[in-house]
Amino acid sequence: MKTFNFAAVIVCIGWSVVSCLDIQIDNAGGDMVKQTGQTVELMCNILYIDASTADIAGNPVTWEKLSRRDNPLYTIISTGSNKRGGVPDHISIDFGDYSTSVPNTSGIKNSLKISGLEAGDNGTYACLAGDVKIEYNLIIPSPVEAVVLDDSKTNVTTQLQTFEYTEGETRPLNCTSHGGSPDAKLKVTFDGVDKTSEMVSYQKWYLENPESAFEAAKVAVSRAVNYEAKGEDNLKIIRCTASVDGLPNSNKFAEAKMHIQFSPMFVNCSEKVAANIGDENVIYECETRCDPAPTKVFFITQTNAEMIAEIDHENTEENFAATYIKNEGDSYTIRFTFLELTDADLGYLFQACVRNTRGAKCMEFTPTKPDTGSSSSGNSNSVGETSDRNAASSMYPMYAILYTFVLLVATSL
Ligand SMILES: *[C@@H]1O[C@H](CO)[C@@H](O)[C@H](O)[C@H]1NC(C)=O
Ligand SMILES: *[C@@H]1O[C@H](CO)[C@@H](O)[C@H](O)[C@H]1NC(C)=O
Ligand SMILES: *[C@@H]1O[C@H](CO)[C@@H](O)[C@H](O)[C@H]1NC(C)=O
Ligand SMILES: *[C@@H]1O[C@H](CO)[C@@H](O)[C@H](O)[C@H]1NC(C)=O
Ligand SMILES: *[C@@H]1O[C@H](CO)[C@@H](O)[C@H](O)[C@H]1NC(C)=O
Repeated sequence: MKTFNFAAVIVCIGWSVVSCLDIQIDNAGGDMVKQTGQTVELMCNILYIDASTADIAGNPVTWEKLSRRDNPLYTIISTGSNKRGGVPDHISIDFGDYSTSVPNTSGIKNSLKISGLEAGDNGTYACLAGDVKIEYNLIIPSPVEAVVLDDSKTNVTTQLQTFEYTEGETRPLNCTSHGGSPDAKLKVTFDGVDKTSEMVSYQKWYLENPESAFEAAKVAVSRAVNYEAKGEDNLKIIRCTASVDGLPNSNKFAEAKMHIQFSPMFVNCSEKVAANIGDENVIYECETRCDPAPTKVFFITQTNAEMIAEIDHENTEENFAATYIKNEGDSYTIRFTFLELTDADLGYLFQACVRNTRGAKCMEFTPTKPDTGSSSSGNSNSVGETSDRNAASSMYPMYAILYTFVLLVATSL
């Protein structure tokens, strides 16, 4: 024995004694997912090849737990079968003989048993024997505690509140989850449409980071974007959902309703209105979105390049009327009515306009005669053309009217 030990030291000069022994671990380690309250056995069966009892005794097995604070230093939780002070009672070593089928090999079983798993048991455990080591990532999923949606003015947790913006205003929009292990995954939607990839900034920090490797840490993760308010997002519900892998049905979310004040925008306007000259109550409808509600809806008519009438909301003047109807949400249908469509309306500029406290917009259009094929240039009305309405009306009773609309911003209105 003495000779052997001595020889080993000689042979191994420049090396640590342990590296001269042929030690293997009969387990591979890896990820283990367990729920709180369960029991886990992290196996570490050591094979000492051609070793004496003294060799084995001189090369104890050590279990360590990765400490978050001292990463990558390890906190020793066991040397041989002796637990260090401070190691919780529900962690124990199952130490004993391990019968191996490999000839001339002694086996020692050195399992780490953790019963009644708690959140603080989550982490990376290493079994070391000589210079061989295996690692287990023990994952004990824990649910997210809270989700906070923050527009840099108001923050919401669960109840639906309103985030107030004006069009073009830019502020950080931020969703943060508190707690949850492994790190919560955040998903951000606007009216159900996934916008997570636009939440470009990602942060993670410890809300609680205890000294002890046996107490649970608490992590916050956050996704943020410098959000620029757009009219089209008005009244949308923004929702941030946090989920944790390994814990189905434990999602938490916070949501808020966007209220964005914006000047009118035209959507979904019909491009053509067909009518015959002489028709009464020819209606042109256009959908507008704006918030707040329109303060003025008006129709500008022009004859001979001169403005002849600006008809306000629910006023009727000469041959025209303008009004609007409230739809769902921030949508309004603006209705412009030719009380009697005359051919003098052809070829001249009209503007359908709407204003709210944020601004005004007009839809500009020029009624034109349909292309009948046999056309003369006289059919394409120009601004300078004059005609007697009634005469023209009787001359061209069957013309359908084609309106082409050009969207323009009437800042001077
Ligand atoms: C086991 O050890 C003995 C004594 O050291 C030796 O004679 C024998 O060859 C070894 N067997 C194997 C399979 O290594
Ligand atoms: C739990 O352990 C896993 C694997 O070791 C690790 O990725 C995760 O960050 C741990 N969670 C906490 C809250 O420490
Ligand atoms: C939410 O806002 C309130 C004040 O409105 C503030 O006291 C609180 O700290 C905020 N919470 C978070 C998580 O930002
Ligand atoms: C997101 O909000 C949290 C608090 O709610 C704050 O600590 C964090 O710095 C914010 N992140 C960004 C990018 O605004
Ligand atoms: C356009 O009008 C149609 C029919 O009224 C409606 O179904 C559709 O939602 C509208 N589109 C927009 C963008 O408002």
